[in-house]
Amino acid sequence: MPHRIAVLSQKGGTGKTTTVRTLADALRRAGLSVLTVDLDPQGNLSDYCDVPPDAQPTIADVLAGRAAFADAVHDGVVPANLQLAEAELALAGRMGRELVLRNLLRNGDGPADGVGGADITLFDCPPNLGLLTVNALVASTHALIACEAQYFALQGVEQARQVIDLARETLNPELVWLGAVVTKADLRTVHSREAVEQLRAAHGDKILDTVIRQSIAYPETAERGTSILDHRPELGVDYLDLAVELTDALDEPAARRKLTRMARAVRG
Ligand SMILES: Nc1ncnc2c1ncn2[C@@H]1O[C@H](COP(=O)(O)OP(=O)(O)OP(=O)(O)O)[C@@H](O)[C@H]1O
Ligand SMILES: [Mg+2]
Repeated sequence: MPHRIAVLSQKGGTGKTTTVRTLADALRRAGLSVLTVDLDPQGNLSDYCDVPPDAQPTIADVLAGRAAFADAVHDGVVPANLQLAEAELALAGRMGRELVLRNLLRNGDGPADGVGGADITLFDCPPNLGLLTVNALVASTHALIACEAQYFALQGVEQARQVIDLARETLNPELVWLGAVVTKADLRTVHSREAVEQLRAAHGDKILDTVIRQSIAYPETAERGTSILDHRPELGVDYLDLAVELTDALDEPAARRKLTRMARAVRG
């Protein structure tokens, strides 16, 4: 079954784009075909994935009806740039504005339930719970919240969860909330540990077991265009663990087994 996962958060800098990029890498290494879609006018995912800045068409052209979805795939990424901010404004005035992405995926250039035949499509949402994020939630089978190991994460997760519930109650009853992944955690500090405890107290097992540790290696690898799984595997193993948890939830046992072996190999 193809899966479409919206990675979202109520605020900026929670590690969404890093999560989309690194998860895609891990899942591909486990043999799945993965498409990533940049839904953020900042275009960070497109940058991270080395899509040339002038690549055309982009997700903005697709949302505006100027290009087919399949034509906007560049090396496994549907890129975005500032034109997406304009496309979002235009979207706001349209009838059925929350359904545009879902209808585009259905209409045409790929099977209704997978984009261009990908096993997994990951949507990298912008740092807010606005119309682009809602479009991703309505077009997805699953939602994953990213949050930092900070006190104020509690409120952010709560708000993101409310938007997921709203999407489920109104436009996408099948949407499954996979949970929230805590990122940028420095578990040596009391602050980080208490933040994770507080999140678990409020959301129970919806806070995923895997916690992504904080490291300067993340911005470094983003800048160099290398993968944390190659550059610092002893840190990147966090994302292998996350991929194990998610393939378990998505019922992808073959990929799950491979990822478990990969994580074990790193730990030695
Ligand atoms: N585990 C981590 N440890 C340290 N830094 C990290 C980690 N994950 C991501 N970062 C860094 O934090 C910054 C923000 O990460 P990222 O771009 O993934 O977040 P985002 O939620 O997509 O941000 P935005 O909301 O602006 O789109 C980047 O510089 C990234 O390299
Ligand atoms: Mg981002």
